[in-house]
Amino acid sequence: MKQDTCTRSAHIFICTNDRKGKRKSCADFNSLQFKTVLKQYIKDKGWSSQIKVSSAGCLGYCTAGPNIIIYPHKIHFSEVKLENMNKIKKAIDELMLNKRKNQGN
Ligand code: FES
Repeated sequence: MKQDTCTRSAHIFICTNDRKGKRKSCADFNSLQFKTVLKQYIKDKGWSSQIKVSSAGCLGYCTAGPNIIIYPHKIHFSEVKLENMNKIKKAIDELMLNKRKNQGN
């Protein structure tokens, strides 16, 4: 086993857990489309090497789904709808702006 320091600025986890209607899950709201939108946004911004966007299994907030969490910043978006993407993009922009400020750029 190897252990290294993660060099990414952020990791965005989008719950795409699908319980196939047996119980509420984020996939009931087509949460996979959020991943597509955010991945494209990160790519368009040229941040793909700095921010990873991943599907996640259950994040433990099923009743408030769909859920998106940004680590290590502890930002949790719940009850996300497609029309909320701009707000999430703005939060990502702020993270990257703060990173640049902290680096003195
Ligand atoms: S199914 Fe998405 S948080 Fe549990």
